[in-house]
Amino acid sequence: MIQIKDFKDNIGIEIVVHGWTANRRSSKRLEFIVLRDGSGFAQCIVDANNVDERTYKNAKLTNQETSVKITGTVVKDDKQIGGYELHVSDLEIIGTSNNYPVTNKKHGVEFLIDKRHLWLRSKRQWAIMRVRNKLIYSIHNFFQKEGFVQADAPVFTGNACEGTSTLFASEFYGETAYLTQSGQLYGEAMALALGKIYTFGPTFRAEKSKTRRHLSEFWMIEPEMAFYNNDMNMDLIEKFIKYVLKDINENCKYEFEILRRDTGSFEKIINTKFPRLTYDNAVKILKGELEINGKTTIETLEQDLEDVKRGIVERKKEIAEREKIIAGGVKRGKRNFLQNKINNFKNEIKDLEIKAKNIPSWIKSANEFEYGNDFGGSDETVITRMFDVPVMVYNWPHKIKAFYMKRDNDAPELAKGVDVLAPEGYGEIVGGGERETNLELLIEKIKGHNLPMSDFEWYLDLRRYGSVPHAGFGLGLERLIAWICKLSHIRETIPFPRMYKRLFP
Ligand code: 4AD
Ligand code: MG
Repeated sequence: MIQIKDFKDNIGIEIVVHGWTANRRSSKRLEFIVLRDGSGFAQCIVDANNVDERTYKNAKLTNQETSVKITGTVVKDDKQIGGYELHVSDLEIIGTSNNYPVTNKKHGVEFLIDKRHLWLRSKRQWAIMRVRNKLIYSIHNFFQKEGFVQADAPVFTGNACEGTSTLFASEFYGETAYLTQSGQLYGEAMALALGKIYTFGPTFRAEKSKTRRHLSEFWMIEPEMAFYNNDMNMDLIEKFIKYVLKDINENCKYEFEILRRDTGSFEKIINTKFPRLTYDNAVKILKGELEINGKTTIETLEQDLEDVKRGIVERKKEIAEREKIIAGGVKRGKRNFLQNKINNFKNEIKDLEIKAKNIPSWIKSANEFEYGNDFGGSDETVITRMFDVPVMVYNWPHKIKAFYMKRDNDAPELAKGVDVLAPEGYGEIVGGGERETNLELLIEKIKGHNLPMSDFEWYLDLRRYGSVPHAGFGLGLERLIAWICKLSHIRETIPFPRMYKRLFP
């Protein structure tokens, strides 16, 4: 069976293709159908002069999402979507579709999420899912090449890994079980058996609020390496992110075009060493006490705010000028052209107005940040504003980090954790660190976090029998996709998002 992606190898040949009508328009005795088949999009031309009456009538009967079997000849045409066109000789309808609910008009997001099972067929969603697929493949390639063994952690667990506040409880033959928040503890056991491992599976967190960064079910990649310290861990994270970014940049050009994702910044990221900031310095940068390239965050944000305000004024002027021309009377083509421009400016103004509202509150929360706290989303946005590439923040106050994190021998108030913050306002995409090997400190921490000691005996065995320094990290797949595709919300990164109060479809 030929797919649209195979058209390039079938120029001038009559082939059969199966798919759905993404769009149709008519012009005199011609029908133009944009066919999608999952592998791509292609325009199919039905010319009443060249087909029998049945085919022409069938073509006229197709609506958005009617499924069809089309026979036709592939013609190369660079101007067309995908670069090829199909000159149809026969068209059969497989399944009808009337009043398809997800149209080209602007729908509200809640509506689209309700219709997620259909929304997935839209071009943008198609592009995102393909990026997701390529990323997963690339991630496996990286770790396999580096000599890691994929090892799966259980989904039902008896232990809390990342604190008890976000656990989903379930029932397991009469016992309480939790859906895993992270495979890490099991990853540690498997690293001591296999050396370097990575888990890649679903993880669950009861995040009882709606944010653009949180899902209740997300996929995490968690490498764990025996005999690694946190510096080696950071080297690996950097190599890993650069590898997948390079791969995806080379292999998803069409998808990025559809998403209108400007990938210019990727090149720089691939070729630049990621800045490594201690938590202390990150706080200083956040609060405007440490300059980056001769500027503080606060100065930079104030400048941004001025630019944003000027941007709004300029666009309003552009709109007014075009409205005046339209009011003066112009031909329909020209009017549509101008109206399109106006609509674009209006959309840009909407984005700028959100920024104009956000920046002052970012400045305020940066100023008010207290040393020793964890960074919030806006703090991460402010810190990363100073860099075009991901930054790694390490040496965290141990009090705000998980029980398993290794305390620094020289500075016992610090833990050897690392967070990677993505640029362009995306914030944390990776959390990891070196693991505590001191049995007494570990027991003290487990008690301090009010975790039931007996549940962790198996974990403590890892320190009792042949304990070694080891480290690892967790990358949230959906956070990575959101950043790479530059999406405004994480819900579009996964086929069926599970979020606060969202269980269907
Ligand atoms: O920083 P976190 O909580 O770290 C861990 O779970 C460690 N046990 C990982 C390890 O060292 N093996 O989570 C890791 C990453 C975050 O950086 C983020 O990318 C993602 O998981 N993440 C979420 N993604 C989507 N929705 C959520 N609710 C997420 N919570 C965490
Ligand atoms: Mg974290």
